[in-house]
Amino acid sequence: MIPTVSLLLLVSMLIVDGREVLRLPSERTGGPADDRVGTRWAVLIAGSNGYWNYRHQADVCHAYQILKKGGLKDENIIVFMYDDIAYNKENPRPGVIINSPLGEDVYKGVPKDYTGKDVNAKNFISVILGNKTALTGGSGKVVESGPNDHIFIYYTDHGGPGVLGMPSGPYLYADDLIDALKKKYASGTYQSLVFYLEACESGSIFEGLLPLGMNIYATTASNAVESSWGTYCPGDYPSPPPEYETCLGDLYSVAWMEDSEIHNLETESLRQQYQLVRKRTSNDNSAFGSHVMQYGDLQLSVDNLFLYMGTNPANGNFTFVDENSLRPASKAINQRDADLVHFWDKFRKASEGSDRKVNAQKEFAEALSHRMHIDDSVKLIGKLLFGIEKGPVLLDAVRPSDQPLVDDWDCLRSLVITYETHCGSLSQYGMKHMRSIANLCNAGIQKEQMAEASAQACTQFPSYSWSSLENGFSA
Ligand SMILES: *[C@@H]1O[C@H](CO)[C@@H](O)[C@H](O)[C@H]1NC(C)=O
Ligand SMILES: *[C@@H]1O[C@H](CO)[C@@H](O)[C@H](O)[C@H]1NC(C)=O
Repeated sequence: MIPTVSLLLLVSMLIVDGREVLRLPSERTGGPADDRVGTRWAVLIAGSNGYWNYRHQADVCHAYQILKKGGLKDENIIVFMYDDIAYNKENPRPGVIINSPLGEDVYKGVPKDYTGKDVNAKNFISVILGNKTALTGGSGKVVESGPNDHIFIYYTDHGGPGVLGMPSGPYLYADDLIDALKKKYASGTYQSLVFYLEACESGSIFEGLLPLGMNIYATTASNAVESSWGTYCPGDYPSPPPEYETCLGDLYSVAWMEDSEIHNLETESLRQQYQLVRKRTSNDNSAFGSHVMQYGDLQLSVDNLFLYMGTNPANGNFTFVDENSLRPASKAINQRDADLVHFWDKFRKASEGSDRKVNAQKEFAEALSHRMHIDDSVKLIGKLLFGIEKGPVLLDAVRPSDQPLVDDWDCLRSLVITYETHCGSLSQYGMKHMRSIANLCNAGIQKEQMAEASAQACTQFPSYSWSSLENGFSA
């Protein structure tokens, strides 16, 4: 009989996520350096381009810096950014990107894994699934995770009900994202996965869609029916340096990042961060804020942030305190109005009679015309299909929160393409009407009916650049 003591020498007990795990001696050799938590992986993606969307790429660069300081290796951080900001002709500090008014450069050192046209929904999904053969372009870096690993995914951009923006190709639809997460789970290649999502109506991506029991915990910047907010915008307090005519960050995003970057993340849980971010993003329930939500396996939220983000050794003594990351409430700008703020600020500051002023006025007017065209044509299609009274009610209907936005996602895609064929691209602003189009599907509208109504509503194809289908359909 082997005495107990020598048994204890042969094996060891490890505490992983609050559970005792038995380690056999044979498992101890050749493992990753920190086999207590497995490897940390991160996928960071900004879904937009254009200087008026400066803030999304600034958010992503900032997130990279936090993870890098937290100890994650470049080989485990995969970055998607269009990369048209740092050297944009509008950028007052060429080669530099900041994410807050007094912030330091967050662009330096960021790996450019997927840029330009390679920032698309298909590559994003393939990277999460670790499928190299499905990639087009880019560095080829994918999440090659194993069963003990932890994955953090952070997305920031415009969105709409059931959909997330992408700078190229079709948008990312919630069903495709959820399918990818299911596949990832089925492949047994992570221990737990945390998803932070900033977009308008971001709650709709998970609501009624994300199954429980896949070890996934998600928080979103807004619920399923409201926009999310840009921050550090011209005219806000605090505002960007005057030469920046654009928002520098997003409210939910800077809330988690400005919290993460100053604390010892071994002492702060996901739940503590959620509560703090929720408080800050609601902006004291003012009109300038949104409701941060959580989805999936909420019991994972007892995990420390350290498990996903590592921690900056310099913050060793700064343990989490509920109060100390809260900033005074300030004004914020609806994501969907941030482009107008940019064009307006540019117009306001440009000298009288200059080309810049004329151009800014044109950009502002075109953005407004595009909005009116989209809003009016969608409304009219509803009326053509369901009548003057019932049309608007049907378009605005919201399903209970335990139901997905739409039952038939292929119908949604097909009606989007049909609409755009006649009326031009929805573009980032038009994503807000996804719920209305989904409601048409839920009411049984077929492609042919949609085509007829769209042709009546849009007698001519709009000429401004927002409507262009050069980048393809939104579906
Ligand atoms: C990877 O993607 C390719 C192309 O889309 C597909 O044919 C293949 O089945 C995928 N592999 C896995 C393991 O999912
Ligand atoms: C934390 O505080 C201790 C004691 O004051 C000090 O010796 C140590 O250098 C500090 N660590 C960091 C990372 O600042």
